[in-house]
Amino acid sequence: MSVISNEVLLKSHETYHSPDRIINNAKISSENYLKLYKKSISDPEEFWGDIAEKELFWFKKFDSVLEWNYPNYKWFEGGKINICYNCLDRHIKNGKRNKVAYIYTNENSQEIKITYGELFESVSRFANGLKSLGIKKGDRVTINMAQTIEQVIAVLACARIGAIHSVVFGGFAPHALKLRIEDAQSKLVITSTWTQRRGKKIMIKSIVDEAVDSLGYNVDIIVAQRDGDNLELIENEYDFHKLMSGSSPECEAEWMDSEDPLFILYTSGTTGKPKGILHTSAGYNLFTHFTSKTVFDLQDDDIYWCTADIGWITGHSYLVYGPLSNGATSLIVEGAPDYPNPARWWSIIEKYRVNILYTAPTAIRLFMKYGIEYPAKHDLKSLRILGTVGEPINPEAWIWYYENIGNKNCAVVDTWWQTETGGHMIATLPAVSQKPGKAGLPFFGIEPKIVDKEGNDVPVNTVGLLVVKSTWPSALRTCWGEPERYNKYWKEINGYYFAGDLATIDEDGYIMILGRSDDVLNVSGHRIGTAEVESALITHHYVAEAAVIGKPHEIKGESIKAFVVLKDNAVIDKHLVNDIKFRVRRELGSIGVPDEIEFVDKLHKTRSGKIMRRVYKAKELGMDVGDLSTIED
Ligand code: WT7
Repeated sequence: MSVISNEVLLKSHETYHSPDRIINNAKISSENYLKLYKKSISDPEEFWGDIAEKELFWFKKFDSVLEWNYPNYKWFEGGKINICYNCLDRHIKNGKRNKVAYIYTNENSQEIKITYGELFESVSRFANGLKSLGIKKGDRVTINMAQTIEQVIAVLACARIGAIHSVVFGGFAPHALKLRIEDAQSKLVITSTWTQRRGKKIMIKSIVDEAVDSLGYNVDIIVAQRDGDNLELIENEYDFHKLMSGSSPECEAEWMDSEDPLFILYTSGTTGKPKGILHTSAGYNLFTHFTSKTVFDLQDDDIYWCTADIGWITGHSYLVYGPLSNGATSLIVEGAPDYPNPARWWSIIEKYRVNILYTAPTAIRLFMKYGIEYPAKHDLKSLRILGTVGEPINPEAWIWYYENIGNKNCAVVDTWWQTETGGHMIATLPAVSQKPGKAGLPFFGIEPKIVDKEGNDVPVNTVGLLVVKSTWPSALRTCWGEPERYNKYWKEINGYYFAGDLATIDEDGYIMILGRSDDVLNVSGHRIGTAEVESALITHHYVAEAAVIGKPHEIKGESIKAFVVLKDNAVIDKHLVNDIKFRVRRELGSIGVPDEIEFVDKLHKTRSGKIMRRVYKAKELGMDVGDLSTIED
């Protein structure tokens, strides 16, 4: 749990009214929000049924809106749909063929634009390419690529033919990638030769090679070669661009059942093994479409920029599917936020006249540290909506964002949600008043509650567990191959959806998220399990045991600290700490590497042998260690 000072708590009670230019033009006014919200809760089936019919294209209309078979549910049964069709074909048919879908740029300010018409053709060709390799509906395809238009093409082509994509963030290590390929039993891996970061090339293809080498079966690999690369491909490897250009541009979109799987996305839980969150076709399409449209108040000529990596759920929902389903023009930016200089993002906003920026508090805090002189040199007046996601935003960062980036003339929209939820759950709409540091009010159809462990509502402004009363269209459908793990979400607390976050609710119904209630860390908006880091640590030959905690960090939100017990034969020299860190980087990837490692003689454990991470955390923060009656020593 994050530590919140009194001063911060006070500031988060202030209310900020959105500027008139937003209130007067927003798709959903404050009054309409309340009216529609009430309807969405009292009659969710009518609410979602109407929107589904109005907003999406169906090959065949659904017979029912929702069927609950607790803890499972089916949305839009009997419907036939394809999300790729909704993202591309229907826009082509509605006169948007020449509208720009994406503008790609990178650290060298290179620029590539692709229209809806061109994207449609590339996706269709690539989808035929996938078919020529024997990929069909229901097959799993792992995507581990650079943040490029090719990655979007790969994702959409899978959706077009009904193959289930599993995108793995490019920053994971070979072993972590291998686990994810193996768990999904993917037949194919799509990769890029390299990605760009701080002026350097990070060789992704070699990570894929290493992952695949230790795999117990054979997979095909498609490689997107970049900027004149000339990698020699071996027998089971195919060139992305050759495969695409050599395939026909005619590819009918597969008629998917509403509940046919769309993708798996692995995320961290409380055990060492990541969970494969499964999302399905229609409900996910509807919810990401409708949240994009209303939370970002997307207007037809907007330039929209979501800074997330496609490898995370934010990238899936709000860089690929949501904006495309609305026919929006998005930026896709490769490389580091502050390279080649700390003004990079502000010059991009100025150059492309960005209207909507969607980013994470960790980035905002990084720019705060650089100072206001960087944004001040740029014309940011095109901005209208400033979104934030991924971790609690401290009121200081919220206000800095509002004043220095938004020039006090934008709506700041904090969006709380998760890989599991598929789309925004708590997100105060732009025309509704905001409170800095509070995620705020629920989205349509979402009924959050703050409860104790027994499921009873806690009083206002009291810390409790965040749960959601019923299902919503883009809720996870299962954990791939682990239905028990899925059931836990609904069975932990009184039949509610258990989010794993701590939160409070105030007298106006505004919810403030305080951080995770479980052993999951949030480092720079990236979700990492303490157990995952511990498992990586003990692969080092001198490490006997390890306990990992998160510590508050000025920029990253949380930083990782590890307490390590060494084996008796360990040779402690000045290289050992770095060597252990290196081991974690090789095993898990750079996002899991501890900032601090402390050697201890033994670990505090419960009598049943569980590591008492909370004791380490309390000690580290100088807080009361609490009840130690179950401790072993
Ligand atoms: C966890 C989910 C949702 C996309 C990115 C993260 C934290 C997310 C917020 C927010 C406070 C937030 C929660 C949540 N989180 N958004 N606006 N305010 N905390 O997705 O990797 O599945 O992580 O991120 O702790 O449980 P994820």
